[in-house]
Amino acid sequence: MAWLSEFVELNKKLHDRESFACTKEPLNLFLKTQASKHAQDKVSKTYVLLGTETLENGKSPICAFYTVSPSSIERKTLPEKISKRLPRYPIPVILIGQLAVNACYIGSGLGQITLIKALKFALSISDDLGGFAVIVDCLDDDAESFYLKFGFEELVRTNGKMRMFLPMKTIAQLP
Ligand SMILES: CC(C)(COP(=O)(O)OP(=O)(O)OC[C@H]1O[C@@H](n2cnc3c(N)ncnc32)[C@H](O)[C@@H]1OP(=O)(O)O)[C@@H](O)C(=O)NCCC(=O)NCCS
Repeated sequence: MAWLSEFVELNKKLHDRESFACTKEPLNLFLKTQASKHAQDKVSKTYVLLGTETLENGKSPICAFYTVSPSSIERKTLPEKISKRLPRYPIPVILIGQLAVNACYIGSGLGQITLIKALKFALSISDDLGGFAVIVDCLDDDAESFYLKFGFEELVRTNGKMRMFLPMKTIAQLP
């Protein structure tokens, strides 16, 4: 199935969360049980890319999604060459907390499309509000190698999970 050209905010009445299945169960569970609640509570916002066809239940299938929220990092976790220019209080950043592609589309380029959309969205927020970098919390080694491929750098490892960052200045250079 083809997908639409733009991501839209998740709407549980119109978008079929049940049929979304990526390869990582915690992300499926997040989309089904947490994403809408978090959006209502202004904890984070989830954006979905819909398929072009409508399902029998009248809803649109979700091909991919990403979730963003404001966050901050400690200056000291950044490499010194970067941190020395920054203030000593927590540094504002945008967190891409979740990002996934429906398993049937894996390898089709949709992961890259989704990441670039999420990065450009973060950049547009930072143009108005500030935001030094985008950070991601990697669920596992797979996620880590995916983000490494797109230029993210290690920030800090906590409980075995890697937090990575990409400066907004680098994102601003995306074509
Ligand atoms: C990670 C994920 C989004 C990648 O989606 P995808 O549609 O397969 O990715 P694409 O086809 O767009 O691949 C883009 C590039 O990244 C590479 N890539 C994809 N997954 C990768 C991985 N785990 N490690 C390293 N590179 C990876 C591809 O080879 C491709 O490289 P190329 O352009 O040189 O050929 C997808 O596998 C997924 O949803 N996984 C489960 C959820 C998850 O782990 N999310 C990430 C962290 S929360």
